[in-house]
Formats: sequence, C-alpha cells, structure tokens
Amino acid sequence: MAVREILEYPHPALREVAKPVTQVDDEIRRLVDDMAETMYDAPGVGLAAPQIGVGLRVFVIDIASEDEPSELYTFINPEIVATSGTQTWEEGCLSFPGVSEEIKRAEHVTVRALDRDGEPFELEAEGLLAVALQHENDHLNGVLMIDKLNALKKRMMGRKLAKKQRAEDAEA
Ligand code: NI
Repeated sequence: MAVREILEYPHPALREVAKPVTQVDDEIRRLVDDMAETMYDAPGVGLAAPQIGVGLRVFVIDIASEDEPSELYTFINPEIVATSGTQTWEEGCLSFPGVSEEIKRAEHVTVRALDRDGEPFELEAEGLLAVALQHENDHLNGVLMIDKLNALKKRMMGRKLAKKQRAEDAEA
C-alpha cells in the first residue's frame, strides 16, 4: 500500500469523466487499498480515483469519526439509482484544501456498485454518508464542489484559493 499524491484544483485531471472498471482484479484492489491509505493519511471522509490522477470509476468513503471504529466503503462503477429530499452540509474536499462551503444535496440516496471483491451491492444512505456518496460520485464525472456554488460564492472561493496560492508561492 502507498499514500498517493492528491491532485488539487484546478488540476485538469479533476475535470475528466472517469471510465468504468472492466474487471475487479488485483490491480484494482491495489488501487482501492492505496486510495484508502491516502484518504486516512490526509485525513478525509472520501476520495475518488480521479483525485489521485486515475481515471476510473472508483471511490472510497469512511465517515466514522475519530472515536468510532473505522468503516470503509468501497464503490466500483457506482450508480446512484434513487434520490429524495434535500439537505445542506458544510462540505470540504481534499482537492480544495482549507476551504469549505455549504452545499445542498439529496437527503437520501440509493447507490448500486461493486465492492472490493467485484460483488454487486446496493446501499441506502442518508445524512453525511449520502452527502459523501454524491460528492465522490460527482468526482467521477469531473464535477467539483465549486460547481455547486452560486456565482457570488464561486467568486469568493476563487479569491480564497488564489490568495492561498500566493501565500504558498511566497513561502516556496
Ligand atoms: Ni472531493
């Protein structure tokens, strides 16, 4: 297992539409394991393959808080097959370090996917797990949290990121 580099906005790989996994083999399992290790190292509650520069439809999620046992979910070729309700959470993203914004999403989602062994499963989720599922699924389609903001908030986030970039450049 290895911790991979997480690509940050506006890296162009984050905008690509990821391709389906054709076979869940050892290479894919290695990818999943690296993704989990990278997510826990960050730390974050979710990570999609495009965020480490791999254009495949794979993401991992673990929303357990520090005092809870970890519960890792692996989603390969996920499809959100049903949604209902709305909820708003303050979301962050490992590709947007240091920023968070309130984003409105469905409250309940049903997802179908393959697990780490290539077995199909269906999961009904609500609350933070539903948010994370929608956020990570967006990554597979090249959709990022900044796309979910209104024009004013988009400009504010753009300025915040530019300011942070200038500070980092000054440090370098
Ligand atoms: Ni993200």
